[in-house]
Amino acid sequence: MLEVTIRKVRPEDVDKVAEIEAICFPRAEAAPRESFEKRIAVFPDYFLVAEIKGAIIGFINGCVTNSPVIYDEMFQDTCHHIPTGSNVSVFGLDVLPSYRKQGIAAQLMQSFIQLARRTGRKKVILTCKENLVHYYESFGYASTGLSASTHGGSRWYDMTLALPDDTSPLA
Ligand SMILES: CC(C)(COP(=O)(O)OP(=O)(O)OC[C@H]1O[C@@H](n2cnc3c(N)ncnc32)[C@H](O)[C@@H]1OP(=O)(O)O)[C@@H](O)C(=O)NCCC(=O)NCCS
Repeated sequence: MLEVTIRKVRPEDVDKVAEIEAICFPRAEAAPRESFEKRIAVFPDYFLVAEIKGAIIGFINGCVTNSPVIYDEMFQDTCHHIPTGSNVSVFGLDVLPSYRKQGIAAQLMQSFIQLARRTGRKKVILTCKENLVHYYESFGYASTGLSASTHGGSRWYDMTLALPDDTSPLA
């Protein structure tokens, strides 16, 4: 089994993260390097990378919001990050193709959910395409229907995970 390390993003990871995003998403949906640079500068707390032998092979990132659902402007501008907000959004979950179907995205997602819970957030929210609804349901997310998002010209579903209270100390 692959030994995967999940850790918080660092500023110097920006090039690799942007490179992985360009591989994982079509051009119209992929966040550009500039967006990652801003996100890492403004809200690095909910940005985790997966490493194997020191090389980044995947990541998950999002911001904090009071909105119960994701809206498109969140992707574009870091001003939508509300540090005291109740909910954490997931902007993207990416794993390089050659490392897929080994549970690496699941490890990233579980770590992200745990982080959101331990930092007192109430919900994790994301949008996904229809083919991934069942995947996110496997983590406990519930589909709340079609999203108003038209990000990249695609059809998206709103997914919400309600978090139980967890005030245990951070690991
Ligand atoms: C979606 C994505 C992040 C999943 O990454 P991953 O690391 O392959 O995810 P996992 O390994 O946790 O799970 C993927 C599948 O592999 C299965 N799997 C997990 N471990 C496995 C193993 N050891 N052996 C075989 N299958 C396994 C999971 O059950 C899941 O099956 P499903 O597709 O039937 O639900 C990846 O495909 C990706 O980057 N896609 C492009 C970007 C994207 O669409 N991101 C999501 C945006 S909402």
